[in-house]
Amino acid sequence: MHCLAATMLVLLCCCCLFLATQQQQQQQLQPAAGGNRESPSCIPHERDALLAFKDGVTSDLGGVLSSWRRDGRHDEQDCCRWRGVRCSNRTGHVHELRLGGGGTFQPDLAGQISPSLLALDHLEHLDLSGNDLAGPTGRLPEFLGSLKNLKYLDLSGIPFYGGLPPQLGNLSRLQYLDLSNLYYGGMNSTDLSWLTHIPSIQYLNLNRVNLSTVADWPRVMNMLPSLRALHLSFCSLASANQSLPHLNLTYLEELDASLNSFHHPMVTSWFWNITSLRFLYLNYTSMYGQFPDALGDMTSLQVLDLSYLFDYHDDDKNMRSMTMDLKNLCNLEVLNLECTLLYGDVAELFRNLPRCSPNKLQELDLGSNHLTGMLPRWIGQFMSLVILNFNWNKITGSLPTSVGQFTGLQILDLSFNNLNGHVPYEIGKLSNLTYLDLNTNKLDGTITEEHFASARSLQYIDLSYNALKIEISSDWQPPSTLKYVSFASCQMGPLFPGWLQWNVSITYLDISSAAIADRIPQRFSDAFSNVWFMNISNNQLNGTLPADMGSMSLLELYLSSNKLTGQIPTLPPNIHTLDLSNNFLSGPLPSATRSAKLRQLSLFSNRLTGHIPESFCKYQQLVVLDLSNNFLEGEPPLCLGFVYGLEGARIELWYHSKNCGDKYDEHSFILEGAGIVLWFHSKNCGDRNHLTGVIPKKIGEMRSLQSLDLSRNMLSGEIPASLSNLTFLSYLELSYNDLTGRIPSGVQLDTLYAGYPSMYIGNIGLCGHPLQNNCSSERHAPKQGGLGRTEEGYGIPFFYLGLGCGFVVGIWIAFGVLLFKRNWRIACFRFSDKLYDKVYVLVATWAEQDKHKLISKYEAKAMVGVSTKISQCMHV
Ligand SMILES: *[C@@H]1O[C@H](CO)[C@@H](O)[C@H](O)[C@H]1NC(C)=O
Ligand SMILES: *[C@@H]1O[C@H](CO)[C@@H](O)[C@H](O)[C@H]1NC(C)=O
Ligand SMILES: *[C@@H]1O[C@H](CO)[C@@H](O)[C@H](O)[C@H]1NC(C)=O
Ligand SMILES: *[C@@H]1O[C@H](CO)[C@@H](O)[C@H](O)[C@H]1NC(C)=O
Ligand SMILES: *[C@@H]1O[C@H](CO)[C@@H](O)[C@H](O)[C@H]1NC(C)=O
Ligand SMILES: *[C@@H]1O[C@H](CO)[C@@H](O)[C@H](O)[C@H]1NC(C)=O
Ligand SMILES: *[C@@H]1O[C@H](CO)[C@@H](O)[C@H](O)[C@H]1NC(C)=O
Ligand SMILES: *[C@@H]1O[C@H](CO)[C@@H](O)[C@H](O)[C@H]1NC(C)=O
Ligand SMILES: *[C@@H]1O[C@H](CO)[C@@H](O)[C@H](O)[C@H]1NC(C)=O
Ligand SMILES: *[C@@H]1O[C@H](CO)[C@@H](O)[C@H](O)[C@H]1NC(C)=O
Repeated sequence: MHCLAATMLVLLCCCCLFLATQQQQQQQLQPAAGGNRESPSCIPHERDALLAFKDGVTSDLGGVLSSWRRDGRHDEQDCCRWRGVRCSNRTGHVHELRLGGGGTFQPDLAGQISPSLLALDHLEHLDLSGNDLAGPTGRLPEFLGSLKNLKYLDLSGIPFYGGLPPQLGNLSRLQYLDLSNLYYGGMNSTDLSWLTHIPSIQYLNLNRVNLSTVADWPRVMNMLPSLRALHLSFCSLASANQSLPHLNLTYLEELDASLNSFHHPMVTSWFWNITSLRFLYLNYTSMYGQFPDALGDMTSLQVLDLSYLFDYHDDDKNMRSMTMDLKNLCNLEVLNLECTLLYGDVAELFRNLPRCSPNKLQELDLGSNHLTGMLPRWIGQFMSLVILNFNWNKITGSLPTSVGQFTGLQILDLSFNNLNGHVPYEIGKLSNLTYLDLNTNKLDGTITEEHFASARSLQYIDLSYNALKIEISSDWQPPSTLKYVSFASCQMGPLFPGWLQWNVSITYLDISSAAIADRIPQRFSDAFSNVWFMNISNNQLNGTLPADMGSMSLLELYLSSNKLTGQIPTLPPNIHTLDLSNNFLSGPLPSATRSAKLRQLSLFSNRLTGHIPESFCKYQQLVVLDLSNNFLEGEPPLCLGFVYGLEGARIELWYHSKNCGDKYDEHSFILEGAGIVLWFHSKNCGDRNHLTGVIPKKIGEMRSLQSLDLSRNMLSGEIPASLSNLTFLSYLELSYNDLTGRIPSGVQLDTLYAGYPSMYIGNIGLCGHPLQNNCSSERHAPKQGGLGRTEEGYGIPFFYLGLGCGFVVGIWIAFGVLLFKRNWRIACFRFSDKLYDKVYVLVATWAEQDKHKLISKYEAKAMVGVSTKISQCMHV
């Protein structure tokens, strides 16, 4: 759960990052260099123009324009000294206006861009980026095309919508033009030919402008011979396989065409002959087929990002062999081929990488591919590597000892492969290593402190799910940077590892299934004072729980399936997840005095006695309460029937009595943050869940629902016709219920059916198109009043969740984030695979009207498109 919350954070960070990069070109706002007493003060009509511009600004929370004053001392009226204004020290004309926003979600200025700027007819540099200056029309003002002297124009991140005005083509001196939009779906253009009137342009950024109808974009760009940087990420460009008779772009160094769906073979793209390219970003461009040979001649390349490059419409074309020859790319620093569906021998791949002297390759990302074979013994030749990621492949053999030569290595991720043999002691030489992930391989042997002998900056170790034995002495002092430790499924016991206690830096600790047969450590809050996640389940810990079960930091504690006895003490103050199931705990339930933040409490299969106290009603945020298989008496307090979760969304609480299949339904909901992620699982009652009742008609109101899986329940009644209104629905599964009646008509449902023809099976009462049986017979009549629920349906409480919540959340956002961040993925997958039998996800919408939404729904939808494939890519 933390992982999803964290992905949301990461998403936020990514968005910040996006804005931050947008601002990268901008310099800090400085008061104008007015120190020079002799410099002429500003020209009166230009001063008036600036004041008129200020009048167009309706909100300036940061006080950016507070120095722009009509009155005051003589020098205060000198507009050349105003913040963001720079004048020529020769003529006194305003030359520069640098009012770029700070790159946060709170733009500095709001309002509109006043046409008074036209009076600044010597203006060369105009930067209004990141401000909310779209004005009431929302259009990019055409009059900007009359600022004839402009060389630099940055309007990025202003939430304009509508077409790009061709008048900008009048800015014939322009060298720098950034019109990248804050989110996709805002601006568009059908014709870019106006750009050809700006032959001096060197930097062009149209990221997120809808250019789907501009088929001849490469021809237009080819007429801009000075171009050095071209950014066309997320522009809905339809293809890149246009043929050009002659390439003009001999200075182009940077080309970003990422996040466009080209759907054609890679080799047919037009840009492979541009040997001046240093940065080439083709990630997420849906091109298939082999890499072009021409790539081997692009010797200037420093960064090549081909990650997530596959055509998600067509699986068959996608697999690529790893035969491209990059030996001559001596400047290559970053090679990202993550999830490009590569297959072949990993040693061959290394043979084709640049092996120049000096070797500059720093980052090698080949995660989530289908590489086989063994890592070559001479891998240590790539001595400059800082990041080495081959996770989620099928690499066998052992980890070569020559990894010890990667003296600058910081990230080593070989998780989810088939590596075997011992972990070489040489990794102990990697003094800069911060991140070591070898989880889920077939490694064996013993890990000792010698493996970390020189590691001074280690922050993250994950060696879980191997056949490793951990023998680290109690008095070993790990590096003080160590935060994340996972040795799940390693053999660490029988004694509880002493070195893990009293280590204040550790915040995440997973030593589940580690064969620890010892007394549970006492004084958790001192021994693990900064840990927020601790999993010691599936061991043989005995004794009673420490009276002091955790510090203020502890949020999640898993101690299930041990041999703990005695009573449950007071819970730690901030804990939100506690799993003590499958132990021998006795006595009454813990009192709910301190820990009001509890969201999940699993105590099933213990020997607890007594009633559920009324004080449990204080757990306002509780969403999972599992008390089954104990000796509890009486009825649960009424308050537990419905609690109000975060944001006032109503959640039905899950609880059930001693015996499976008794009178309570068995389902649970976990509410994540401000949005909705719904996990639904059955635990003890076989593989059928127990949702009863009808599907509410109101489901049609959840306009942004992406995925709905209600299979294997006991739902009755008809399928609401409103389902066909859910235009974003890309997955629907209703099999094995007791649904009856005619299947609603609708193109949407037909399309879904074509994709998942089994979505209705196991409902004998369903009839009509697209099924074979027609609707005449008796048995298809809807049952009346099933289980006393009305047609409007209180049957499935979760449909009330999420309407109108803050912004996009959901598992696909977790996937979406994979676009940016690798590490969370593993955590997410492990979480869902290991803890839940089944995971169903509902994605709710975010406010339609929200002007400053982080990303648009189009962008989100595009992410979803890729995300389904990512999950496949990782599990093949
Ligand atoms: C204007 O002033 C700046 C800083 O005082 C100086 O570096 C620059 O050379 C001057 N430009 C002209 C054209 O005098
Ligand atoms: C461009 O955007 C405007 C406003 O969103 C819209 O009305 C117009 O139809 C769009 N044009 C094209 C060609 O998509
Ligand atoms: C600017 O461009 C537009 C459209 O390309 C054109 O009609 C106009 O005459 C040009 N000149 C000025 C001064 O706007
Ligand atoms: C992009 O433009 C095309 C063509 O005008 C249009 O069909 C499509 O809906 C636009 N996309 C968005 C998200 O506005
Ligand atoms: C190359 O650029 C020049 C200048 O813009 C243009 O006149 C010429 O047509 C371009 N050549 C091609 C093949 O597009
Ligand atoms: C690209 O290079 C290839 C091989 O050198 C050549 O056949 C082709 O004409 C070139 N294309 C362009 C547009 O220059
Ligand atoms: C290790 O990291 C430090 C600090 O970032 C850096 O100065 C040093 O050069 C790195 N060592 C190697 C061998 O790259
Ligand atoms: C806990 O387990 C250890 C090791 O198996 C055993 O020596 C000890 O007696 C046990 N203590 C209790 C209280 O059962
Ligand atoms: C689908 O949505 C439209 C527009 O909101 C509405 O008029 C219609 O009744 C809905 N259809 C169903 C079957 O709910
Ligand atoms: C594509 O690659 C570039 C360079 O590595 C990166 O900055 C960008 O974030 C990537 N785009 C996505 C959507 O991941």
